[in-house]
This record gives sequence, C-alpha cells and structure tokens, in this order.
Amino acid sequence: MSEQVKKPIKITETVLRDAHQSLIATRMPTEFMLPIAEKMDQVGYHSVECWGGATFDASLRFLKEDPWDRLRKLRDRFKKTKLQMLFRGQNILGYRPYADDVVDAFVQKSIANGIDIIRIFDCLNDLRNLQEAVNATNRMKQQEGRGHAQVALSYTLGDAYTLEYWTDMAKKIEEMGADSICIKDMAGLLVPYKAAELISAMKSATKLPIQLHTHYTSGVAGMTYLKAVEAGVDVIDTAMSPFAMGTSQPATEVMVETFKGTPYDTGFDQNLLAEIADYFRPYRDECLKNGLLNPKVMGVDIKTLLYQVPGGMLSNMVSQLKEQNAEDRYYDVLQEIPKVRKDLGEPPLVTPSSQIVGTQAVFNVLMGERYKMATKETKAVLRGEYGQTVKPMNQEVIDKVIPGETRITCRYADMLENEMDKLEGEMKEWKQQDEDVLSYALFPQVATDFFKYRQAQQEKVDMTQADTKNGAYPV
Ligand code: CO
Repeated sequence: MSEQVKKPIKITETVLRDAHQSLIATRMPTEFMLPIAEKMDQVGYHSVECWGGATFDASLRFLKEDPWDRLRKLRDRFKKTKLQMLFRGQNILGYRPYADDVVDAFVQKSIANGIDIIRIFDCLNDLRNLQEAVNATNRMKQQEGRGHAQVALSYTLGDAYTLEYWTDMAKKIEEMGADSICIKDMAGLLVPYKAAELISAMKSATKLPIQLHTHYTSGVAGMTYLKAVEAGVDVIDTAMSPFAMGTSQPATEVMVETFKGTPYDTGFDQNLLAEIADYFRPYRDECLKNGLLNPKVMGVDIKTLLYQVPGGMLSNMVSQLKEQNAEDRYYDVLQEIPKVRKDLGEPPLVTPSSQIVGTQAVFNVLMGERYKMATKETKAVLRGEYGQTVKPMNQEVIDKVIPGETRITCRYADMLENEMDKLEGEMKEWKQQDEDVLSYALFPQVATDFFKYRQAQQEKVDMTQADTKNGAYPV
C-alpha cells in the first residue's frame, strides 16, 4: 500500500482577534494577552491573527489603549510566529473610503510595527478596492523582506455566485500580485459538500495557497473544514476552545485532533494547547459572569442558513424594529432583505454592506412604500461610490432614489486627493508618534479623546512622581 503524501494542514489562530471580536465585542485587553504570547509562539501556528478588524477601534474607544502599542508588544513576544491582521481594503479599518496615501501609510506602519500577513477584503468583492493595499504590501516586501498580501473574497450565496465566479476571481487575484487567497465566510454559509466543490475548483484555477475562514454560527463549520481540507485547502482559521464555536471559529484543539495520524496531521502538541486553553478558560468564565459573553451567541443559529443573513445583521434589525415599536414586522423585513440586496446588485452581506441593506429593508417596510426614504449609504451604493457590484443595480430604484445624478464607474479612490498632510495638520498638537496620525485618520473623534486621555495619564504619572520626590504639586 503506498503511503499518502503528507500535507500538514496549517492553522491560523484567531483567539487574539476574531474570536473575541465575535464573542465578547473585541474587549480582550493587551495586558491579558501578553502573559500567554510566548507559549502560543511555541505551538507552530501558520500565523496568529491579532490585529485589525474591530480591535483598533475597540482599543481606542473602550479599552483606552494605543493599538500600535499592542502590536509592538505582541511582536516582541511572538519571536517565530507570523502575525496577521484584517484590513478592509480602501476603508482600511475605518468606515469611509480613504485616499491612496493613507492606505499606503497604514500598510507601511502595520508591517513596520510587526504585521506579517495582511488579509484584505472588500464588501462588494470589487478587486479595484484591494489593489492599492496589495501594491503597498508588495512594496514593503521588497524593501523590508517582510509582508504578505492575502486577498479575501467575501463568501456569499446568490445567482451571480457560481463556481465560475469564484474561479474567475481566483485567477484575477493571482494576476493582481497577491500572495494567497482567503475565502472569508463571515456568516457560516459554506456547507461541507459545497466547500469541497468550491476548494477543488479554486485549486485548479490558481497556484496560490488558499485559506478558509468561517464562523461556527450555523453549526457546520467543523465539517466544512474537514471537507475543505480533503479537497486541498492549505490553511484554516480556528480559535482556542474557551473562545471557540458559537459566532466564533471551530476549536483549535478539535481540528488538531481531527487530523491526527492522517496526511494532514498538524504535529501540534495537545498538552501545550491544553496549557494555553487553561489560561483562557477563567477569563471566559469571568466574561460569562460579567455579561460580556452572552450564552445566546454560543449556540447554533440555524436562521443564518435559512435566511442567508449574518447573525449580527439579524440582531441589528431586531433592535431597529424594537425602537420603532414594530417588532411584528420582523418577517416582512426578512422577506424584504433579499429584494433590497437584488436592487443593489446582489452584494455579499458583510460590514458595511450588511448594515446598508438591513437598514434600507427596515425603512422600506416601515414607510409602507419601497424607497420612499433612502439612507445616505444606500444613495452612495447606488452612485457607485462603494464600487462595482457583481450584478447590475435596479434602474427603477436608481431613478427613484438618485434621479438625474451622475453615477461613478471608475475606482472611487481615484477621485480623492491625498490627505495625509491635511490630517496631520488637524491633529499635530496631539502627535507623539507618526502612527498617531493614522489613528486619527480612521477615528478622528475617538482618537482625539484617546490622545487627551493619554496626555492626562502622562501628566498624572508626572504629578505623583513629583509629589513623592518633592512633596509639591507641579503646575
Ligand atoms: Co471572521
């Protein structure tokens, strides 16, 4: 009997980013991460995802931490493991499209401070919104010898999203100079046998390594990984068991055990993983006790598969309806969502397109007339500011919502002037490091509040020092 060729499955650990973003609203503080980092560095992970996504915003806004400082501290402790971040294409980690000079500067500083792999996605899968970030990463790779551009496709279902669509995208991503491809299934819609089909098709279309990212929300994720690995996927995203499953990823230890003794064996030490899990478990209990971790997000939400709507989008919708005392319209809105999605060119439903489609569907139902009122964001999508959708948008809706307005067909960022100098001018009184300009660029108000807090802390420290030394308060 011939021995099968070994192909150990590679693992990206998400406990320091997506897992706590999905389960505890991104509230894990740096001080909690640092003591376990050196142990995690010994596991042999392909990478540890620890930055980007909502971590940047949550650090500044809620934890009163400098996200750049977190990155540098993690880099110091992860001596051999690659560090990975999530990046929203031209929106970077913010909520508006930025000029190319801000994208370039952000990529440059991310890599300079310790990031190895940048996973870049766009909510419409418009590759033009990803090209600048890919180029900037490639420039750093040439200059510093470090930096890996991974282009992530937002996975979704619908008429337009055929196997041809995905394989065609894979070829284009290879042409645009990316180092790898990720299928990013934020809602847990990819079911096991479809995953096998998708991965086989994509593997035959491209030589680039393929990584699969999914969430446990609908309960199928572990099986989806199994079929995807058998079909040749190169890397999967998992989370240490105390912060796994529910709206997070499948558990690292479970996937490692699944492939033990097979050609896909990771070779990871389960005892080491158990020690790491022991570190995170009391924190999970604490989060359950203080309400940060809601047991509701730990179960299986089968509605995700039924309505093909991400779990977070459903809970947003419910709270919008509650505010309007219109909870009885829940099923009307659920029926309206796919219609709005079609009108807007059938985009994937991921931040921010999920919020835009969801809110417009609520408006359409509550106003008693479709598009009687349209949000600012719906108008921007119809104008083409977010990019090109896979299917054409509904002309009748365009005529009703933005009558006579010019629509954009070029890449929106081509119309934006460079903005780094202007941003620096606005915030220079607070600047203590170049990175502060980028924090300000993404979240002007939140970053300014943080800078004020930081200054107050620094002055307070000076004051106590002066106090103990001289017995006098400085002015
Ligand atoms: Co995710």
